[in-house]
Amino acid sequence: MIAERTRVSGGWLDLREPADAAARDPELAEILRQQLPSAGCLVIHDLGCGTGSMGRWLAPLLPGPQHWVLHDRDEDLLDAAAAEPPGPAADGASVFVETLASDVTQLHPGDLADASLVTASALLDLLTGDELAGLIDVCAGAGCPVFLSLSVVGHVDLVPPDPLDSRVSAAFDAHQCRKIERDRLLGPDAAAAAVEGFRQRGAEVLVRPTPWRLGAAEADLAAEWFTGWIGAACEQSVELASETVSYARWRLAEVRAGELAVTVGHADLLVLP
Ligand SMILES: C[S@@+](CC[C@H](N)C(=O)[O-])C[C@H]1O[C@@H](n2cnc3c(N)ncnc32)[C@H](O)[C@@H]1O
Repeated sequence: MIAERTRVSGGWLDLREPADAAARDPELAEILRQQLPSAGCLVIHDLGCGTGSMGRWLAPLLPGPQHWVLHDRDEDLLDAAAAEPPGPAADGASVFVETLASDVTQLHPGDLADASLVTASALLDLLTGDELAGLIDVCAGAGCPVFLSLSVVGHVDLVPPDPLDSRVSAAFDAHQCRKIERDRLLGPDAAAAAVEGFRQRGAEVLVRPTPWRLGAAEADLAAEWFTGWIGAACEQSVELASETVSYARWRLAEVRAGELAVTVGHADLLVLP
Protein backbone atom coordinates (compact mmCIF):
# COMPACT_ATOMS: atom_id res chain seq x y z
CA MET A 1 0.00 0.00 0.00
CA ILE A 2 1.32 3.47 -0.90
CA ALA A 3 -0.01 6.27 1.29
CA GLU A 4 0.48 10.01 1.60
CA ARG A 5 2.20 11.68 4.50
CA THR A 6 -0.42 13.05 6.85
CA ARG A 7 -0.55 16.70 7.90
CA VAL A 8 -0.55 17.34 11.64
CA SER A 9 -3.26 19.69 12.92
CA GLY A 10 -2.50 22.59 15.23
CA GLY A 11 -5.56 21.66 17.30
CA TRP A 12 -4.13 18.21 17.98
CA LEU A 13 -0.74 19.69 18.98
CA ASP A 14 -2.44 22.17 21.32
CA LEU A 15 -4.47 19.40 22.92
CA ARG A 16 -1.43 17.22 23.56
CA GLU A 17 0.93 19.98 24.77
CA PRO A 18 0.20 19.62 28.54
CA ALA A 19 0.55 15.80 28.40
CA ASP A 20 3.75 16.18 26.37
CA ALA A 21 5.16 18.61 28.92
CA ALA A 22 4.29 16.23 31.77
CA ALA A 23 5.92 13.29 29.95
CA ARG A 24 9.22 14.89 28.81
CA ASP A 25 12.21 13.95 30.98
CA PRO A 26 13.39 16.87 33.18
CA GLU A 27 16.52 14.94 34.26
CA LEU A 28 17.73 14.83 30.66
CA ALA A 29 17.06 18.57 30.44
CA GLU A 30 19.25 19.07 33.52
CA ILE A 31 22.06 16.92 32.04
CA LEU A 32 21.68 18.90 28.84
CA ARG A 33 21.90 22.21 30.71
CA GLN A 34 25.27 21.13 32.17
CA GLN A 35 26.60 20.34 28.67
CA LEU A 36 25.72 23.67 27.07
CA PRO A 37 28.07 26.67 26.91
CA SER A 38 27.57 28.89 29.96
CA ALA A 39 28.34 32.14 28.12
CA GLY A 40 26.93 33.73 25.00
CA CYS A 41 23.64 33.22 23.23
CA LEU A 42 22.50 29.62 22.72
CA VAL A 43 21.36 28.87 19.17
CA ILE A 44 18.77 26.08 19.28
CA HIS A 45 17.37 24.50 16.12
CA ASP A 46 14.02 22.75 16.74
CA LEU A 47 13.27 20.41 13.82
CA GLY A 48 9.61 19.73 12.99
CA CYS A 49 8.61 22.28 15.63
CA GLY A 50 4.85 22.22 14.98
CA THR A 51 3.32 24.97 17.09
CA GLY A 52 6.51 25.27 19.17
CA SER A 53 5.70 23.25 22.29
CA MET A 54 9.29 22.02 22.73
CA GLY A 55 10.56 25.58 23.07
CA ARG A 56 7.81 26.52 25.52
CA TRP A 57 8.88 23.56 27.70
CA LEU A 58 12.67 23.70 27.35
CA ALA A 59 13.58 27.40 27.00
CA PRO A 60 12.54 28.25 30.61
CA LEU A 61 14.68 25.33 31.90
CA LEU A 62 17.89 26.66 30.30
CA PRO A 63 19.74 29.78 31.47
CA GLY A 64 21.06 32.59 29.31
CA PRO A 65 19.91 34.27 26.13
CA GLN A 66 18.54 31.92 23.50
CA HIS A 67 17.87 32.16 19.78
CA TRP A 68 15.45 29.43 18.72
CA VAL A 69 15.28 28.57 15.01
CA LEU A 70 11.99 26.75 14.48
CA HIS A 71 11.89 24.52 11.39
CA ASP A 72 8.74 23.02 9.93
CA ARG A 73 7.45 22.35 6.45
CA ASP A 74 3.95 23.50 7.49
CA GLU A 75 3.77 27.31 7.38
CA ASP A 76 0.45 27.46 9.27
CA LEU A 77 2.07 25.67 12.21
CA LEU A 78 5.08 28.00 12.01
CA ASP A 79 2.73 31.01 12.21
CA ALA A 80 1.11 29.51 15.32
CA ALA A 81 4.57 28.89 16.83
CA ALA A 82 5.62 32.49 16.19
CA ALA A 83 2.38 33.74 17.79
CA GLU A 84 3.13 31.90 21.04
CA PRO A 85 6.88 32.09 21.68
CA PRO A 86 8.51 30.57 24.79
CA GLY A 87 8.72 32.52 28.03
CA PRO A 88 12.04 33.90 29.28
CA ALA A 89 15.05 31.70 30.08
CA ALA A 90 15.58 30.19 33.56
CA ASP A 91 17.52 33.29 34.64
CA GLY A 92 15.14 35.75 32.97
CA ALA A 93 17.31 36.25 29.88
CA SER A 94 15.49 36.90 26.63
CA VAL A 95 14.44 34.17 24.20
CA PHE A 96 14.23 35.14 20.53
CA VAL A 97 12.34 33.00 18.01
CA GLU A 98 12.87 32.75 14.25
CA THR A 99 10.75 30.50 12.03
CA LEU A 100 12.04 28.74 8.93
CA ALA A 101 9.87 26.89 6.41
CA SER A 102 12.05 23.91 5.60
CA ASP A 103 11.96 20.20 4.92
CA VAL A 104 14.24 18.84 7.63
CA THR A 105 15.07 15.79 5.51
CA GLN A 106 16.76 18.14 3.02
CA LEU A 107 19.03 19.94 5.51
CA HIS A 108 22.73 20.23 4.70
CA PRO A 109 25.45 20.07 7.40
CA GLY A 110 26.08 23.82 7.04
CA ASP A 111 22.43 24.58 7.90
CA LEU A 112 23.07 23.64 11.54
CA ALA A 113 26.65 24.91 11.75
CA ASP A 114 25.74 27.62 14.29
CA ALA A 115 23.79 25.24 16.58
CA SER A 116 24.53 24.97 20.30
CA LEU A 117 21.71 22.40 20.49
CA VAL A 118 19.39 20.58 18.09
CA THR A 119 15.98 19.43 19.30
CA ALA A 120 13.07 17.53 17.80
CA SER A 121 9.91 16.18 19.36
CA ALA A 122 7.41 13.63 18.07
CA LEU A 123 9.15 13.73 14.71
CA LEU A 124 11.27 10.61 14.21
CA ASP A 125 8.42 8.13 13.62
CA LEU A 126 7.34 10.24 10.61
CA LEU A 127 10.65 9.63 8.82
CA THR A 128 11.91 6.79 6.65
CA GLY A 129 15.15 4.98 7.47
CA ASP A 130 17.10 6.93 4.83
CA GLU A 131 15.65 10.24 6.02
CA LEU A 132 16.60 9.46 9.62
CA ALA A 133 20.12 8.41 8.59
CA GLY A 134 20.54 11.70 6.69
CA LEU A 135 19.26 13.69 9.66
CA ILE A 136 21.63 11.86 12.02
CA ASP A 137 24.55 12.76 9.73
CA VAL A 138 23.54 16.43 9.69
CA CYS A 139 23.03 16.52 13.49
CA ALA A 140 26.27 14.65 14.19
CA GLY A 141 28.06 17.09 11.87
CA ALA A 142 26.83 19.99 14.01
CA GLY A 143 28.92 18.58 16.89
CA CYS A 144 26.47 19.73 19.59
CA PRO A 145 24.00 17.91 21.89
CA VAL A 146 20.80 16.66 20.28
CA PHE A 147 17.63 16.26 22.36
CA LEU A 148 15.02 14.01 20.70
CA SER A 149 11.88 13.99 22.78
CA LEU A 150 8.71 11.90 22.73
CA SER A 151 9.37 9.32 20.03
CA VAL A 152 6.60 6.72 20.07
CA VAL A 153 7.88 3.24 20.87
CA GLY A 154 4.77 1.20 20.06
CA HIS A 155 3.65 0.33 23.56
CA VAL A 156 -0.02 1.00 24.34
CA ASP A 157 -1.73 -0.19 27.51
CA LEU A 158 -5.45 0.23 28.23
CA VAL A 159 -6.90 -0.48 31.69
CA PRO A 160 -9.30 -2.23 32.03
CA PRO A 161 -7.93 -4.44 29.22
CA ASP A 162 -9.87 -6.05 26.36
CA PRO A 163 -8.81 -8.90 24.03
CA LEU A 164 -9.18 -6.59 20.99
CA ASP A 165 -6.62 -4.09 22.35
CA SER A 166 -3.58 -6.01 21.13
CA ARG A 167 -4.99 -6.52 17.60
CA VAL A 168 -5.83 -2.84 17.27
CA SER A 169 -2.39 -1.95 18.63
CA ALA A 170 -0.60 -4.23 16.14
CA ALA A 171 -2.62 -2.82 13.22
CA PHE A 172 -1.88 0.74 14.37
CA ASP A 173 1.87 0.00 14.55
CA ALA A 174 1.71 -1.49 11.04
CA HIS A 175 -0.05 1.69 9.86
CA GLN A 176 2.74 3.78 11.37
CA CYS A 177 5.23 1.78 9.29
CA ARG A 178 3.20 2.15 6.07
CA LYS A 179 4.83 2.67 2.72
CA ILE A 180 5.22 6.31 1.66
CA GLU A 181 6.39 7.10 -1.84
CA ARG A 182 9.28 4.62 -2.23
CA ASP A 183 10.05 3.72 1.36
CA ARG A 184 8.48 2.77 4.69
CA LEU A 185 8.06 5.09 7.64
CA LEU A 186 9.96 4.02 10.75
CA GLY A 187 6.99 4.41 13.10
CA PRO A 188 7.70 2.85 16.50
CA ASP A 189 11.13 1.58 15.33
CA ALA A 190 12.47 5.11 14.93
CA ALA A 191 13.78 5.65 18.47
CA ALA A 192 15.84 2.44 18.44
CA ALA A 193 17.14 3.28 14.96
CA ALA A 194 18.20 6.74 16.16
CA VAL A 195 20.00 5.31 19.20
CA GLU A 196 21.88 2.86 16.98
CA GLY A 197 22.65 5.48 14.32
CA PHE A 198 24.09 8.02 16.76
CA ARG A 199 26.06 5.36 18.67
CA GLN A 200 27.57 4.11 15.40
CA ARG A 201 28.83 7.65 14.86
CA GLY A 202 30.55 7.56 18.26
CA ALA A 203 28.05 9.62 20.26
CA GLU A 204 26.83 8.82 23.77
CA VAL A 205 23.04 8.39 23.84
CA LEU A 206 20.99 8.57 27.04
CA VAL A 207 17.50 7.07 26.80
CA ARG A 208 14.56 7.58 29.16
CA PRO A 209 11.01 6.20 28.96
CA THR A 210 8.54 9.12 28.74
CA PRO A 211 5.05 7.63 28.39
CA TRP A 212 1.83 9.56 28.34
CA ARG A 213 -0.31 8.45 31.31
CA LEU A 214 -3.81 9.62 30.51
CA GLY A 215 -6.66 9.35 32.99
CA ALA A 216 -9.88 11.17 33.77
CA ALA A 217 -8.17 14.57 33.84
CA GLU A 218 -6.95 14.06 30.26
CA ALA A 219 -10.22 12.62 28.90
CA ASP A 220 -10.38 15.03 25.91
CA LEU A 221 -6.88 14.10 24.78
CA ALA A 222 -7.47 10.40 25.43
CA ALA A 223 -10.69 10.48 23.35
CA GLU A 224 -8.95 12.23 20.45
CA TRP A 225 -5.99 9.86 20.70
CA PHE A 226 -8.27 6.79 20.81
CA THR A 227 -10.24 7.97 17.78
CA GLY A 228 -7.04 8.42 15.76
CA TRP A 229 -5.58 5.14 17.04
CA ILE A 230 -8.52 2.98 16.08
CA GLY A 231 -9.10 4.90 12.83
CA ALA A 232 -5.54 4.23 11.65
CA ALA A 233 -5.78 0.58 12.75
CA CYS A 234 -9.00 0.06 10.75
CA GLU A 235 -7.48 1.80 7.71
CA GLN A 236 -4.58 -0.65 7.93
CA SER A 237 -6.66 -3.82 8.57
CA VAL A 238 -10.06 -3.31 6.95
CA GLU A 239 -11.55 -6.40 8.62
CA LEU A 240 -11.06 -4.69 11.99
CA ALA A 241 -13.56 -1.96 11.02
CA SER A 242 -16.56 -4.29 11.31
CA GLU A 243 -15.16 -6.20 14.29
CA THR A 244 -14.51 -3.11 16.39
CA VAL A 245 -17.80 -1.19 15.99
CA SER A 246 -19.12 -1.91 19.49
CA TYR A 247 -15.58 -2.02 20.99
CA ALA A 248 -14.92 1.50 19.69
CA ARG A 249 -18.27 2.75 20.99
CA TRP A 250 -17.91 1.50 24.55
CA ARG A 251 -14.19 2.28 24.78
CA LEU A 252 -14.95 5.91 23.86
CA ALA A 253 -17.77 5.96 26.43
CA GLU A 254 -15.26 4.70 29.04
CA VAL A 255 -12.76 7.41 28.05
CA ARG A 256 -15.37 10.16 28.28
CA ALA A 257 -16.51 8.88 31.68
CA GLY A 258 -12.89 8.93 32.91
CA GLU A 259 -12.98 5.15 33.37
CA LEU A 260 -10.17 4.18 30.98
CA ALA A 261 -6.48 4.57 31.87
CA VAL A 262 -4.33 4.95 28.75
CA THR A 263 -0.56 4.58 28.64
CA VAL A 264 1.19 5.42 25.36
CA GLY A 265 4.89 4.59 25.29
CA HIS A 266 7.44 7.21 24.22
CA ALA A 267 11.18 7.67 24.72
CA ASP A 268 13.37 10.76 25.15
CA LEU A 269 16.91 10.57 23.79
CA LEU A 270 19.78 12.88 24.68
CA VAL A 271 22.71 12.58 22.30
CA LEU A 272 26.05 13.88 23.57
CA PRO A 273 28.75 14.24 20.91
C1 LIG B 1 3.76 15.23 15.55
S1 LIG B 1 4.21 16.83 15.07
C2 LIG B 1 5.21 17.36 16.44
C3 LIG B 1 5.32 18.85 16.53
C4 LIG B 1 6.15 19.38 17.69
N1 LIG B 1 7.53 18.99 17.56
C5 LIG B 1 5.59 18.94 19.01
O1 LIG B 1 6.22 18.15 19.71
O2 LIG B 1 4.48 19.38 19.36
C6 LIG B 1 5.41 16.58 13.80
C7 LIG B 1 5.82 17.87 13.14
O3 LIG B 1 6.87 17.61 12.23
C8 LIG B 1 6.63 18.31 11.02
N2 LIG B 1 7.34 17.57 9.97
C9 LIG B 1 7.19 16.27 9.62
N3 LIG B 1 8.06 15.95 8.66
C10 LIG B 1 8.76 17.07 8.38
C11 LIG B 1 9.80 17.38 7.46
N4 LIG B 1 10.28 16.45 6.63
N5 LIG B 1 10.31 18.63 7.45
C12 LIG B 1 9.82 19.58 8.28
N6 LIG B 1 8.84 19.36 9.17
C13 LIG B 1 8.31 18.12 9.22
C14 LIG B 1 5.12 18.32 10.88
O4 LIG B 1 4.68 19.37 10.02
C15 LIG B 1 4.70 18.52 12.33
O5 LIG B 1 4.64 19.88 12.65
